[in-house]
Amino acid sequence: MLEIEHLAAGYGRDSVLHNVALAVRQGEIVALIGANGAGKSTLMKTISGLIAPRQGEIRFDGRRIDALSSARRVELGIAHVPEGRQIFPALTVAENLRLGAYATPLAAAAMAERIAAVCRPFPMVLERLDEPAANLSGGQQQMLAICRGLMSAPRLLMLDEPSLGLAPLLVGEIFRIVAELRARNLAILLVEQNARQSLAIADRGYVLEGGRVVMSGPAADLLANPDLAEKYFGVGGSVEAGDGRQALARRLKVILEP
Ligand SMILES: Nc1ncnc2c1ncn2[C@@H]1O[C@H](COP(=O)(O)OP(=O)(O)OP(=O)(O)O)[C@@H](O)[C@H]1O
Ligand SMILES: [Mg+2]
Repeated sequence: MLEIEHLAAGYGRDSVLHNVALAVRQGEIVALIGANGAGKSTLMKTISGLIAPRQGEIRFDGRRIDALSSARRVELGIAHVPEGRQIFPALTVAENLRLGAYATPLAAAAMAERIAAVCRPFPMVLERLDEPAANLSGGQQQMLAICRGLMSAPRLLMLDEPSLGLAPLLVGEIFRIVAELRARNLAILLVEQNARQSLAIADRGYVLEGGRVVMSGPAADLLANPDLAEKYFGVGGSVEAGDGRQALARRLKVILEP
């Protein structure tokens, strides 16, 4: 579905991404792991069209998209839920949601249906449609940001640190929701502070260091990799090989396919 080759991108004179290759297939969760400043958000911004690549190709459904506008990429089925949520606090929850459909305009009735469908797993969002988004807690704003991303009916959803700053209970909730979205056949590119948890629900992963992909593979393999454990999985060290991934997923109450 998404294929990236030889991608280079950056800001002004600064190069950030170098020769990046990455793929996301339909119905797959792909975790993007990397330290602060590794280029994870930059990669997402390049895929969604906020940054123009300097080199390389981005293809979606086999077609080049790297020269298309962001709006056109949204139309094609790519949604980006950016780092820091970027909710408009003075707008109502419903207005924030409608903005998510700006590239794929809907008539009023279809818009109402879309909002109801998108928010079904997030009843809290539905209950507060007419309130200013500023009234929502951090966790609720993150749910709103995910709903807004879903408003364009994407087939690829990119989530940049969706659980950042949330209480542990809500973090689990976010991971559960992400796993549920895959069950609806959405492809997901996930950047998460918590590399272990994200690999626990992911199918595959990529490790970015200094803007380069230094490792990639099945999530279970990355999770069992002692070098990665030391660098990215924090205190607690490596995860037991074997059922480590299942155990983590159980803790997150996420159901993994066998
Ligand atoms: N708007 C910008 N202008 C210039 N440089 C930037 C800009 N945004 C990011 N950078 C630089 O690009 C590099 C990669 O940043 P990026 O935000 O992609 O990293 P990241 O992996 O998402 O990090 P984090 O985990 O902190 O979110 C960093 O060196 C950063 O300082
Ligand atoms: Mg980032």
